[in-house]
Amino acid sequence: MNPKWWKESVVYQIYPISFMDSNGDGIGDLQGIISRLDYLQDLGVDVIWVCPIYKSPNHDNGYDISDYCDIMKEFGTMDDFDHLLREMHARGMKLMMDLVLNHTSHEHPWFVESRSSKDNPKRDYYIWRKGKNGGPPNNWESYFSGSVWELDPRTDEYYLHLYSKYQPDLNWENPVVIDKLHEMVEWWLKKGVDGFRFDAIAHIVKTKGYPDADNPNRTPTVRAYGMFSNLEDVHTLLQNLYDNVLYFYDIMTVGETSGLGPEQALDYVGDGRRELNMTFQFEHMFLDAASPGSGKWDVVPWSLLELKKIMSNWQTVLHDRGWNANYLCNHDQPRSVSRFGNDLFYRIPSAKMLATFIHMLEGTPYIYQGEEIGMTNVCFDSIDEYRDVETLNYYEEKRKNGVPEEQIMSAIHHKSRDNARTPMQWDDGHAGGFTTGTPWIKVNSNHMEINAGNAVKDPDSIYNYYKQLIALRKKYKVIVYGSYELLLAEHTEIYAYTRTLEDQRLLVILNFFDTEPEFEWPAGFDPDQLELLISNYPQSKDHDIRSFKLRPYEARVYLQQRV
Ligand code: GLC
Ligand code: CA
Repeated sequence: MNPKWWKESVVYQIYPISFMDSNGDGIGDLQGIISRLDYLQDLGVDVIWVCPIYKSPNHDNGYDISDYCDIMKEFGTMDDFDHLLREMHARGMKLMMDLVLNHTSHEHPWFVESRSSKDNPKRDYYIWRKGKNGGPPNNWESYFSGSVWELDPRTDEYYLHLYSKYQPDLNWENPVVIDKLHEMVEWWLKKGVDGFRFDAIAHIVKTKGYPDADNPNRTPTVRAYGMFSNLEDVHTLLQNLYDNVLYFYDIMTVGETSGLGPEQALDYVGDGRRELNMTFQFEHMFLDAASPGSGKWDVVPWSLLELKKIMSNWQTVLHDRGWNANYLCNHDQPRSVSRFGNDLFYRIPSAKMLATFIHMLEGTPYIYQGEEIGMTNVCFDSIDEYRDVETLNYYEEKRKNGVPEEQIMSAIHHKSRDNARTPMQWDDGHAGGFTTGTPWIKVNSNHMEINAGNAVKDPDSIYNYYKQLIALRKKYKVIVYGSYELLLAEHTEIYAYTRTLEDQRLLVILNFFDTEPEFEWPAGFDPDQLELLISNYPQSKDHDIRSFKLRPYEARVYLQQRV
């Protein structure tokens, strides 16, 4: 079972710009985070993942770094950072940084030099190519719409950017770049940070000969993600990083790796690979996309059978060989209760059910800020209220192609990253208690009802349910290390599974819908010998001998001793 502190931990993700503003400028900041650490300590989380806080012109909220060793001025100073780290450590919490190694900001001094002339010594820090037939070098499409290539008139060559044009990709074929990045990672480790989430790490290597490697399927631009995702050399580069730097520190690492299944993930996280502790997989994030090729914006209903298939596959393939990172939401995704639960009629029970699901899987659970109080998607009427570069690019491209406004806005309401980026709702006062000023993006109008102040006070709140789930993880090793087995694989409403470790077994029963399906006790379970560990509905002690009806979005977790 190979115990590790990062397997036993619960991670809480902070999106700093939207977490807490301390000085009334409408932008969340480091002092704001410090002022809310007691709240997080009370919740019981162990590790705080803080999205990028480095110096940045903020075209992608900090995922465009212009100085890796400085703090974004809107967020505070390096002194504030040191203070934050001390305050977390004093509370027994660890700090995981979010590091973007695939690209920098176009304002990074490296890029400013690189673009200045073809013979600048830093030209090769980035990826420059000549155009072809009066256009870009190839037809790859960027994650944020349009070509991955941007023509720079200064030298009449194109630079590559998998994300926005303000995020030029670093050239990992240049050993000098690698050295500089290693040095910088070490610099943060020496400061005492406890881990990293490596942003977009699957993309640091591109197909060899890529300037000519058009994806033949469609023109003029195509999604060619396979040509720059999870290629073999990524592993060599990560192993170098591990052997030269990471190995010497007791830290936690998680990679953002879209586009792979569990067998491939083992190349990153398999025991003995010397790469990462865990990765974020994306298969379940595409359940509600019409087809993988159509991208995320074409929304279709998701299916529970598919969800079971995907999650069960990850659970079984990685067991004893690697480690999962389990999540339903982050700063790039819609709110989990709006997407997989029911934020209209069953917000509280469905949010608790989803929390039970994630926390009872094998792997490290991640909570995204506001998820613990059941924050929902937002539905701004006008594109002017949106801030996210991906959303704005999408809107503009679709308008240009003549797609009707309502159709675009409907996709944005479902999938915009701003759903998860509206300010944290602390109380029912001005701007949800996030700021005394004007927030950089509007607060969700439901903050009058949904807010941390209410949640902390109410013993039946989603917040207090999360607290229980986290406390259970500390008490029962079977929750952390138990092996997973799916029950009722073909049931279209109930998701049930067991977790087994030595002589203990958990039975997890989840109703994913607003219906009332019948649940039969599986063979080998004697209801009289089961202890109820947690449920989102009151339960009586008298068990029905053979079966019972589940209530809408009901979740129950039982423990059986001595199996
Ligand atoms: C990752 C981040 C996302 C960012 C992108 C580019 O996907 O999670 O927020 O926009 O990388 O850095
Ligand atoms: Ca501020």
